[in-house]
Amino acid sequence: MSHLLALDQGTSSSRSIVFDPEGRVRAMAQRELRQIYPQPGWVEHDPREIWSTQLETAREALAKAGLQAADIRAVGITNQRETTIVWNRRTGEPIYNAIVWQDHRTEPECAALRERGLSESVLQKTGLRIDAYFSGTKLQWILDHVPGARAQAEAGELAFGTVDSWLIWQLTGGAAHVTDGSNASRTLLFNIHTRQWDADLLAALRIPAALMPAVLPSSAHFGEVRPDWFGGPLEIAGVAGDQQSALFGQACFSAGMAKNTYGTGCFMLMHTGEHFQVSQNGLITTAAAQLPGPPQYALEGSVFIGGAVVQWLRDGLRAIASSSEVQALAQSVPDSGGVVLVPAFTGLGAPYWQPDARGAIVGLTRGSTVAHIARAALESIAFQSAALLQAMSRDAVASGGSPVTELRVDGGASVNDLLMQFQADLLGIPVVRPAVVETTALGVAYLAGLHVGLYAGLDELSRQWRAERVFHPTMSRERAAERMAQWEHAVRQTIAP
Ligand code: G3P
Repeated sequence: MSHLLALDQGTSSSRSIVFDPEGRVRAMAQRELRQIYPQPGWVEHDPREIWSTQLETAREALAKAGLQAADIRAVGITNQRETTIVWNRRTGEPIYNAIVWQDHRTEPECAALRERGLSESVLQKTGLRIDAYFSGTKLQWILDHVPGARAQAEAGELAFGTVDSWLIWQLTGGAAHVTDGSNASRTLLFNIHTRQWDADLLAALRIPAALMPAVLPSSAHFGEVRPDWFGGPLEIAGVAGDQQSALFGQACFSAGMAKNTYGTGCFMLMHTGEHFQVSQNGLITTAAAQLPGPPQYALEGSVFIGGAVVQWLRDGLRAIASSSEVQALAQSVPDSGGVVLVPAFTGLGAPYWQPDARGAIVGLTRGSTVAHIARAALESIAFQSAALLQAMSRDAVASGGSPVTELRVDGGASVNDLLMQFQADLLGIPVVRPAVVETTALGVAYLAGLHVGLYAGLDELSRQWRAERVFHPTMSRERAAERMAQWEHAVRQTIAP
């Protein structure tokens, strides 16, 4: 009874992983999730499909590992964040599809909140900018647009949850309506100082408090799984949003430690310890996954188009037949030949915040080939991440801390050695890839394992975390500065005058 089961409910798929006590992957299962696009800018998921795919993968992972419920010490849940679900407490039926974090339908509601002068108090209380990305206005939209929803919410008949809460509700057969602080901190409704739903923010967004789940630390007793789901009882003992879970799975437990996840986009988080800090450089402040005790914070920034630029090379430019060909094509030339590609396809996020920017390829000559463009595309992932890390380091130094000294990496594109080496060259610090790259799932497995006493504490986990490869910077700092200056010059070309 020493294994841990991690459920990782992501934007594009539901996955389940069984870990052994040493944090090694014992078995894994995955199912794609259908993306629903009812209108331009809208993105939805079917909450029932979120649940059914998650349950199927959990059962399959257990079967592949040759284990029973009785062999599992505890369950951890990590999830796509901000995605908003409302369901009926009596029937357990969702009243609308899940509105996904990428959905921008509530931009007018956000503009209205900004016009009411709420930006500063929201920032100070939640660490967030008022943006359609976060759950608050998505929840407001459901209450305003589903017939009868607001009256039912006021009568206490409905429940709101991010994906973790929804899965826990299902797993426990409706016995638990809970979330953790890292997920709550993405709603625009949670005060990350008091760690409670904020009455003023609930009132400002007209959200009845009766809808809200109880908020627990990330490592806690979240509920008992109904025995019939897995043929025996199981305890849910760890919950965290996927990016905070990855930070934990990378053993970034103290101020100044940072990780970057290279997926479709990139998510970079830097732990700031017990110190709540508002960024002066366009980042957001968020609750880190945490054990019971004082609050733990992180600064976060994201790159909208990371690995997606490789998909564009494949599907848009038809430069490669499959994504795995990108490294060979990029490596067929010694450098990008002065070509810089800015994939601002959907605007630029932190630290630029230019929603109207559009992509550009600059520095083309007669000698430029598709290989140079492929190389520039890969490099763009590292340039954007470097700009984020520089912003984080500026924030850290401004608050009396030190610049980040190493970057821990994970996610699909972190297997690309060329990209990781270029990342280290630009940053001038080591880029470290761990032995277990499933850090998102590992983070909640650790959180669950800590709660049930499988691990003694954070020191034990820090010792267990191991690097698979360290990429040391080889480029001179002058050359790296020149390359960053070329990038910043190209970024300026993408911003409408
Ligand atoms: O904030 C959104 C993030 O949690 C989504 O992550 O990995 O499901 O794309 P992912």
